[in-house]
Amino acid sequence: MYRFKLAGSVLGLLMLPLLVACNDVTENPDTSEQSASDTEKLTVYKRPTCGCCKKWIDHLEAEGFEASAEHPVDLGAIKDRYRIKNNLRSCHTAVSSQGYVFEGHIPARYIHQFLASPPVDAIGLSVPAMPVGSPGMEYEDKFMPYPVLLMKKDGSTEVFASVQSVAQQHQPFNQQEVQP
Ligand code: CU
Ligand code: CU
Repeated sequence: MYRFKLAGSVLGLLMLPLLVACNDVTENPDTSEQSASDTEKLTVYKRPTCGCCKKWIDHLEAEGFEASAEHPVDLGAIKDRYRIKNNLRSCHTAVSSQGYVFEGHIPARYIHQFLASPPVDAIGLSVPAMPVGSPGMEYEDKFMPYPVLLMKKDGSTEVFASVQSVAQQHQPFNQQEVQP
């Protein structure tokens, strides 16, 4: 099982630059078989060697998504194509079958919530940078509260969720949370 090997102060961890946290690891072949036909499919664009992206994909699959990884030569071009602003970018970009984008280490429950009732004029969600303790960014028991941002067509953002704890991000999504 892959584990982060990082040294440094807590402050250093919180300020973790993308390149340091996306430690290179050898990817294990994906042996999981998904048979459900009604699972939502996400295409995840990432670097081939990024370990935290792989861990995030594992999280998605554990939470009921089907995910397939793509390794484009120019990841930035993918983020440009889906109009993800620079300050909202993270290490990976997931795209749903309907073309919604999910940038960074978003807990699966919020992707379920978004897709259950996509907000008007939204293009997707983002967790900018890589908050320590978010899914795929686990490090010991460290956790840094972070927002899940709603990205809108006009380029503005709204707070979709404010994640305050590990327990909150792993709470299963309940359909009843969706307002009619
Ligand atoms: Cu990452
Ligand atoms: Cu990633």
